Amino acid sequence: MRVLVVHGPNLNMLGQREPDTYGAQTLEQIDEMITEAAEKLGIEVNIIQSNHEGELIEAIQQALAWADAIVINPAGYTHTSVAIRDALAAVGLPAIEVHLTNVHAREQFRRRSLTAPVCRGQISGFGGVGYVLALHAARKIVEEESS
Ligand code: DQA
Repeated sequence: MRVLVVHGPNLNMLGQREPDTYGAQTLEQIDEMITEAAEKLGIEVNIIQSNHEGELIEAIQQALAWADAIVINPAGYTHTSVAIRDALAAVGLPAIEVHLTNVHAREQFRRRSLTAPVCRGQISGFGGVGYVLALHAARKIVEEESS
């Protein structure tokens, strides 16, 4: 089973970025956690981060050729990007949205996600562990739907 993990804009700055909100964990540390968990679950992961909407869209489109599922933290684009939502809908792979913070307990504008309605579910508020939870969810969905 293969999963594309997508990190959106500004997540490359984790560790230094608003540590009171996002904590001290760097993206590299989160990616290590994802890779370790994926190995244990028998999942092959390809992890990308980009600050550019078009690059995120291209990665989502290319996933159609090789991935069984997508785990995505669209970051700021969650609240603004019709194009990322359309890309997820176009490829139709099961997608799980992840947020490090509880977006429902923050500013009003973060409560609206344009991407969540085209995902199977959203995991929000558990820091980097959210990506590991999403891998479990992705495995369950893919296993159930291929049997
Ligand atoms: C975020 C929440 C978004 O509102 C914000 O723009 C981010 C990170 C999170 O992981 O908590 O960049 O997606």
